Amino acid sequence: MGRLVVCDHPLIQHKVTFLRDKNTDTKQFRELVDELATLLAYEVTRDLPLETVRVETPVAEAEGRVVRRMLGLVPILRAGLGMVDGMLKLIPSAKVGHIGLYRDPKTLQPVEYYFSLPADVTERELIVLDPMLATGGSANKAIASLKERGCRPTKLACLIAAPEGVQAVRDAHPDIDIYVAALDSRLNDHGYIVPGLGDAGDRLYGTQ
Ligand code: PRP
Ligand code: URA
Repeated sequence: MGRLVVCDHPLIQHKVTFLRDKNTDTKQFRELVDELATLLAYEVTRDLPLETVRVETPVAEAEGRVVRRMLGLVPILRAGLGMVDGMLKLIPSAKVGHIGLYRDPKTLQPVEYYFSLPADVTERELIVLDPMLATGGSANKAIASLKERGCRPTKLACLIAAPEGVQAVRDAHPDIDIYVAALDSRLNDHGYIVPGLGDAGDRLYGTQ
């Protein structure tokens, strides 16, 4: 079974608190999502394999370790876009694919409207990005679409998750490790995370 990692570093908890606050404006919200993505990138990449290399310092030869694993980021549009730059700060050689999904407000089912991946995507380990994991429908659809195309998604990085969404992803994709900045208590009748932060896409882009 994939791991569920709740990244509860004090800086993450601090930033999530301001992210939730309804008085946080669009600019601050975007900055917080960006900063949280960078902090999450640190945890998401913690288990990357290392290769031993030799390096010449100005003083002597030393043994060092380098990451050679090729990574890809796949944000789920729209809100996942807000996490891309923050992740790329720590893993700048990652390539980025995009999956466009929206959640039908009545059925809560994900509807796919866009799909674009880097040419060498099958050689990369993929990290799916979405700030919100609510019913899990969007994340499950994104992961399934990637697998159908022969890709290798291994991790899902979210900012706020509901237990229902975590369970849904674990049921459908037990091979995926899930990283979250906060695990909330439940979904409401409209499929919104409680307490959550509202609509992540709207808060990122100032739409309603
Ligand atoms: C939000 C969010 C996730 C999805 C989560 O997207 O960014 O993609 O809902 O809900 P789920 O786990 O129940 O599928 P939304 O459909 O609002 O689209 P947007 O990002 O374009 O605003
Ligand atoms: N999508 C969001 O943006 N927020 C939620 O709480 C649930 C789904």
